[in-house]
Amino acid sequence: MDFPVFHLDFLGNRMLVAGIAVLHVFVNHPFAVGAMPLVAALEWSGWRRGDAGWDRLAYRILTVCFVVTTTVGALTGVGIWFATSLVNPAAIGSLIRVFFFAWFAEWLVFVTEVLCIMAYYLTWKPMAGRKGLHVALGAALAVASWVTMAIITAILGFMMDPGSWLERTSFLSGVFNPIYLPQLAFRTPLAMVAAGLLALFLAYFFTRGDDDLRRRAVRWLSLWSLAWLAPAAAGALWYWRAIPAWMAGNLPVALGTQRFAAWYDQLLVVLGVMVAAVLLTTLAGALLPRRLPRVALLVPFALTLVLLGSFERVREFIRKPYVVGEYMYANGVRVADLPLLKEEGILRHSAWARVRDITDANRPAAGAEVFRLACTRCHTASGVNSVFDRLTGLYGAGDWDRETVKYYLLGMHTARPYMPPFPGTDVEAGALADYLVTAQRSHEPVPGAQDVGLDGPAPAGGEV
Ligand code: HEC
Repeated sequence: MDFPVFHLDFLGNRMLVAGIAVLHVFVNHPFAVGAMPLVAALEWSGWRRGDAGWDRLAYRILTVCFVVTTTVGALTGVGIWFATSLVNPAAIGSLIRVFFFAWFAEWLVFVTEVLCIMAYYLTWKPMAGRKGLHVALGAALAVASWVTMAIITAILGFMMDPGSWLERTSFLSGVFNPIYLPQLAFRTPLAMVAAGLLALFLAYFFTRGDDDLRRRAVRWLSLWSLAWLAPAAAGALWYWRAIPAWMAGNLPVALGTQRFAAWYDQLLVVLGVMVAAVLLTTLAGALLPRRLPRVALLVPFALTLVLLGSFERVREFIRKPYVVGEYMYANGVRVADLPLLKEEGILRHSAWARVRDITDANRPAAGAEVFRLACTRCHTASGVNSVFDRLTGLYGAGDWDRETVKYYLLGMHTARPYMPPFPGTDVEAGALADYLVTAQRSHEPVPGAQDVGLDGPAPAGGEV
């Protein structure tokens, strides 16, 4: 616990990271990883047939992807690292220790990808006479886009289940964690399908007034999406089987206790209907492109975004209570350090804590500090996911009994396995209960280190 605690009380840290990350995936999968091979394949097929209209369509699709990836894509990509480094520096620090060379390689590949997309896009017209070379440039870009995702997926898999790394702690055991290849085998075709549906969406606009081009494009893009749907389904199955039992068990428990519990069952049905809608539209597009109403081209891509968002949300959720599976809890406490913190206290081992010793006079303030350290990675006091709303759900809005709240805190991980065990002493749990009981009506926002600013305390030498 040797970093200042950044905290956004109105939005919550979960939402901050989730918002940026999901937006990034919305861009990365359809507009980059899937779109680059798709555009290169489109360009190649237009070149082979000497079809200028087809080439123009490919160029226009690329224009949209170029603009979106180099703005929203790049900003959110960098944004993820800023946000996660502030929200959970301990976790990012651990990941850099394990994946140091992957981080370095990622940077090189990312720069290569950006250079390739600039070259590919900007030379489309100047290189009209050297199409073979230009298509090869597109293929190189496709490979670079895929490799950036492939590296990040290793890290995402590791965060879910580090597997044998927990004993071996080697770079390779970290990279080839049990979830890596299955998740990559799912994400790759998923990105291709997403790009096909994005291109159908764009074809709605870019083939206006040219029915023949539209029919041919709808057919080609539907076939592309259909062809990738089968490997995506196989990848999904493999990924599902790689999820460890404790995590799979978390799925109904974790999602079932959410606010949306009431409609979770319906959610599964809705997701199934969406997949079926995508399948039917692409089938119709492949077999009867002439009969498919133009507006139907807009629907599958919208559904794809919902499906991608749900996939990422579930992946993030089932990993709880860990940020790195069985190694570090979401609040930055290493599993191995838990006994020490329980014995000696989290305040004592937090370099930036403003309160270190608990007295009768400072109990609620000390409790607020414990709350900041132990709970604010997932909860706020006043904003989204407010801990007070959660407690009200448990105890009602009446006056809470301090002892009951304290008792709850000490056992919360057994009743709710998606929450980490309380990482402090009995006295600290008492102080946190005092804070919760005192603040239950005011819901005063809890400030983060950034609110305290330069006037905050100097680090006081916590060792953990
Ligand atoms: C790993 C993230 C995480 C951490 C850390 C965490 N919680 Fe939670 N907590 C959750 C989730 C997820 C829920 C389910 C409700 C939701 O937020 O959507 C929840 C629910 C609760 C509930 C309602 C439980 C119920 O039975 O319905 C309470 C009370 C609570 N948390 C208190 C705390 C306190 C106090 C701390 C700090 C000591 C804490 N939590 C730390 C993730 C976390």
